[in-house]
Amino acid sequence: MNARMPTSARHVSLVMGVTILALARPTVLVADGPPPKAYPALGPLPAVPARDASLVEMGRRLFFDPRISGDAGLSCATCHDPAQGFTRQKNAEGKPMQLSDAYPGIRYFRNTPTLINTAFKANFPDVGWGWDGRMGANLNDVVRDQLTETMIMNMDMRLMHERMKQDPVYVSMCQENFGGECSSGRGRKALVAFMESLVSTDAPFDTGELSDAASRGRALFEGKAGCIRCHNGPYFSDGEPHNTGVPENLDVFRDPLRHIGLRAVLSNHGVPKADIWRRDVGYFLVSKDYGDVGKFITPTLRELVRTAPYMHNGVLGTLAEVVEFYDQGGGHDDPLAYELKPLGLSENEESDLVAFLESLSSRTPVTVDPVEIPETYEPIEDWLGVHN
Ligand code: HEC
Ligand code: HEC
Repeated sequence: MNARMPTSARHVSLVMGVTILALARPTVLVADGPPPKAYPALGPLPAVPARDASLVEMGRRLFFDPRISGDAGLSCATCHDPAQGFTRQKNAEGKPMQLSDAYPGIRYFRNTPTLINTAFKANFPDVGWGWDGRMGANLNDVVRDQLTETMIMNMDMRLMHERMKQDPVYVSMCQENFGGECSSGRGRKALVAFMESLVSTDAPFDTGELSDAASRGRALFEGKAGCIRCHNGPYFSDGEPHNTGVPENLDVFRDPLRHIGLRAVLSNHGVPKADIWRRDVGYFLVSKDYGDVGKFITPTLRELVRTAPYMHNGVLGTLAEVVEFYDQGGGHDDPLAYELKPLGLSENEESDLVAFLESLSSRTPVTVDPVEIPETYEPIEDWLGVHN
């Protein structure tokens, strides 16, 4: 542009340039925000430094140990079962579970998320863990919350270290890993290390072995179906809250114990008018901004093959149902995420998209063997000579 052109003339020609550009672009893109190439590229997860094996081992033991819950009746693995993709899909009678259990006396109102790759949520700049992003700013906080939350494990941190100190196995594990006595903080560090070791391994997407159907599905994911607008980057999530209009799971309102669970969390978090909401408010619980009612943090799409049912309340049972849901333009809510529109996918396109989603799960299941915890244990007197 001519440097000597008067400012007003420069302004006019700039505005004209923008207008011409806007006219040349398909209006749908202007209305829908930036074009897909602006999104963080899909790809393998960044390599994580290998965790200290003996600390991970201590974490694995704690993970299966019911003694770190208040009534010594449930462990992390009760809800995040390694044999069920670190989620809970079936109860003890083998019945499907859309919603999580909770500490005896209460029931929860959301689905249990997987812990595989959960450590990568540390990279989310704006939100914490949990479906609504309310759970802690780092994984150590989340572990403390899960342990002490009355609805989950109802544990007291002082009791936790006492119980660890009474078990010779933990006493020696704490000596080995920390060169000293057990404390609840050391227990939490071990649990964090354990979770950091739960990372996807050989998903066909990462090993470059996509089937033809999955390759076509990827093109749809990044193109016509627009999934990449929210599920992007190596973790397949933008770490942001969106309202996709997932219908309420009415069991939350039919079952008085789940209903009380929801009410308790709403009022504990200072949600305005906690007793009138007839829905899961999602991220509103964190932001208290009415525009955020019904938003949930975009979840990862890795390991989906082992983590059905889907969504914060488990209402969609299969990946085909999820794709059908998006094909309809998501659910019914206002304001619904602007990215969602009916997609007009053919049946073949829907199954290609499912094939792509399936390709994001490791071929070798990410799991661990259970640890047998003795039901009785000997309180110790002079183990390692530290007490006398
Ligand atoms: C009674 C069932 C139950 C138990 C026991 C339990 N959890 Fe959870 N966990 C859940 C549910 C349900 C959520 C989702 C909560 C929400 O979003 O409202 C969750 C969320 C989490 C998250 C966040 C995951 C993510 O990606 O956002 C982590 C991490 C976690 N739990 C770790 C643990 C650990 C470690 C233990 C043991 C100390 C544990 N949990 C015990 C049910 C349970
Ligand atoms: C507007 C952002 C957005 C777009 C676009 C989007 N998603 Fe989602 N997705 C989300 C959010 C948010 C959730 C969680 C909603 C909830 O739990 O209520 C989710 C959940 C899911 C789940 C369930 C994961 C689980 O662990 O339960 C799958 C699968 C999924 N999306 C696949 C897709 C596919 C395939 C597309 C493209 C057709 C797509 N998404 C487009 C934001 C989006």
